[in-house]
Amino acid sequence: MPPLRLTRAAPALLLCLPLGITACGDDGDTKAAAEGADGAEDQAAPEFYADVAPMLAENCLRCHTEGGQGPGDFSDPAVVDALADVMLAAIDDGRMPPPVADPSCRDYIGSEHLTLKAGARDTFAAWVNSARLIGAAPDSPMQAPVAPELTGADMELLIPATYTPVYADTLNPGNEYRCFVLDTGHTDDFFITAMHPLVDSAEILHHSVLFTVPKDELDPSWLAPDGVDCINDMGATDGMISAWAPGMLPIEFEDGAGIRVSGDSVLVLQLHYYASATGVPDRSGYAMRTAPSVTRELRMAPFGAYGFRIPAGEQTYSFTETINWSEGYPPIRVWGSFPHMHVLGTGYRMWVEREDGTEDCLLEGNDRYDFHNQLTYMFNEAPVVRPGDSVHFECTWDNSAENPNQLFDPPQDIGYGERTDQEMCYAFTLVSIGEL
Ligand code: HEC
Repeated sequence: MPPLRLTRAAPALLLCLPLGITACGDDGDTKAAAEGADGAEDQAAPEFYADVAPMLAENCLRCHTEGGQGPGDFSDPAVVDALADVMLAAIDDGRMPPPVADPSCRDYIGSEHLTLKAGARDTFAAWVNSARLIGAAPDSPMQAPVAPELTGADMELLIPATYTPVYADTLNPGNEYRCFVLDTGHTDDFFITAMHPLVDSAEILHHSVLFTVPKDELDPSWLAPDGVDCINDMGATDGMISAWAPGMLPIEFEDGAGIRVSGDSVLVLQLHYYASATGVPDRSGYAMRTAPSVTRELRMAPFGAYGFRIPAGEQTYSFTETINWSEGYPPIRVWGSFPHMHVLGTGYRMWVEREDGTEDCLLEGNDRYDFHNQLTYMFNEAPVVRPGDSVHFECTWDNSAENPNQLFDPPQDIGYGERTDQEMCYAFTLVSIGEL
């Protein structure tokens, strides 16, 4: 099919050069495979729109679309044709869609859109390794089944002014962590009952963290309209409210539940910019639904481990922190959690050990932790922790020279610290007090 080669090569070149993908556009293997598939003609060859499009829409289009966070528009069959082998490789080595917590430990809201359904990979592979028929395009354009936007927001807060990141940090080239104080207009307490970021320049926003800082602890420089560099200074960890990464769906608490923002605190938004493009201005923010009072107050319990020392060179090092829920502690209900480590983190697990010795899985992401894709997971069913139970939280790191995120050459022993070249092990966990 010589005439097709041009249309196949063109998007490949456009996409692959900036991505540095060398295998791109080299479709020698695919053509051989396609020829091989011709032998099995009695089996209907898969078609793009009929067979592949639903999976791409469900799992990739949220990010890989015009103006989206990921490169390429995967609703265009020519783009998918050009990138097919790279896409399959990214799925097979677990990089795409970006890894998230395992819903089979405990299901969480939106898990069906964040993970591949059984068989989805094989359907795509069958198309990649066949004649790559396109089929009839549907009447309406392909789109992601979930719109990651919050409905009914009554508070929409943007950072004070448009900001263009400069990426001055030499330890993390191409990354900038910027904190902005958001003006809520409140001097009294209020509650956040639902929230989601307002993303302006999706292609440079890697993740965001929303937290509060007590007014009497706030460095006045943080009030600057263009914010402050804050990679190593997230304020008090118990002020954490939420973490977001692209693709995450809005967080909506059930009726009557909310997180308090004290009138004595300011709301701070940390934006992690990533230099996929330089000179791109951004004015992102947060949309929220709020209430003056709630019947169930959700509180942040920062389950953390501090006593670890990750040996230099160790490829798989785990450390577990245990909190014994002693007699006299009130029962708590656990609504969700946000696991957090730094760049060497590779996996996490949180579970409740019941008084009778049984275990209840809370959150598991072994080999699934990705510093660049940190999410808050809100459980579909919120379990209760009672006196006599223990809560365990385990973090796993790769401190070897082979870890592509390794910052030291040669690797060094790493302990707890706020700096990116130190490590953390937190499960920022949303709880309410009492059985209900
Ligand atoms: C949550 C957003 C998001 C989703 C969902 C997503 N991607 Fe990506 N993808 C990205 C971002 C961001 C990049 C560029 C940075 C990187 O490589 O991490 C990327 C890069 C890629 C690349 C090129 C670089 C590489 O890693 O090989 C491929 C291919 C890719 N994605 C395929 C897919 C496929 C296939 C799906 C769906 C099954 C998918 N992605 C779902 C965000 C996403």
